[in-house]
Amino acid sequence: MKGVILAGGLATRLRPLTWVTNKHLLPIFNKPMIYYPLEAMKKAGIEEVLLTTSPHHSGDFANLLGSGEEFGLKLLYGIQKNPAGGIAEAILLAREFAKNEKILIILGDNIFNYDLKSVADKFSKKAKGAVVFGIEKDTQSKQYGVIEIKDGKVVSIEEKPENPKSTIAQTGIYMYDERAFDFIKDLKPSNRGQLEVTDLNNFYVSEGTMECEMLDWWIDAGTSHDELLAANVMVAEKVKAGEL
Ligand code: DAU
Repeated sequence: MKGVILAGGLATRLRPLTWVTNKHLLPIFNKPMIYYPLEAMKKAGIEEVLLTTSPHHSGDFANLLGSGEEFGLKLLYGIQKNPAGGIAEAILLAREFAKNEKILIILGDNIFNYDLKSVADKFSKKAKGAVVFGIEKDTQSKQYGVIEIKDGKVVSIEEKPENPKSTIAQTGIYMYDERAFDFIKDLKPSNRGQLEVTDLNNFYVSEGTMECEMLDWWIDAGTSHDELLAANVMVAEKVKAGEL
């Protein structure tokens, strides 16, 4: 499997911190945010990672991360011309890179301590399908996609719904088979003008091939100043306790 980390977006919610730098370069305790998904890729057994980012900040990522050697990874870079075109649009940039292999996607602002290796190994042997990672959360906050599960099967995923059907939030960790790129080609921009990852996921939901794995600790560090601060405090505690 190949890995893709998305580090585009405009991060308007974190201004003024993000006027001149990219959100994923901001510190989370003792490291830049982007280190966490890179380390998670390595732990998952991934060898090659494509990092997609905006034209303005790609040089900063290359200066910081170089070839990826420090992380034991081969790192390549992709440029998303419209950095807010949507998560699915950014995933499409990985088509050539993936070369018909399955892909593990991690959003660059997601921090977690779950070891993805066993799920990645199992998924890489499957003929087709996708995996989404969920977490129990207050889904009334309308910050997340919401996953509905019935009899152990994913039956719907809705993007930031008014009336959430469950308390399972969709995190930013996904695994897809090679067909994901064809599915993205059929997507239409949402009301917020983006190609939505939730719409991509729903192709697999309607096919009955979407699986959900649950995490017990996860933070989306990039949604607000409060979340960024909370992420710093929680990560500091976990690092000192040897849990991260
Ligand atoms: O973090 C989990 C949530 O991420 C999910 O619950 C939602 O279903 C999913 O849509 C997404 O929601 P957000 O609205 O929080 O996504 P955001 O715009 O914050 O972007 C998440 C990451 O993806 C961020 O690290 C930047 C990157 N990104 C985003 C966009 C829109 C890109 O690389 N390119 C993009 O065009």
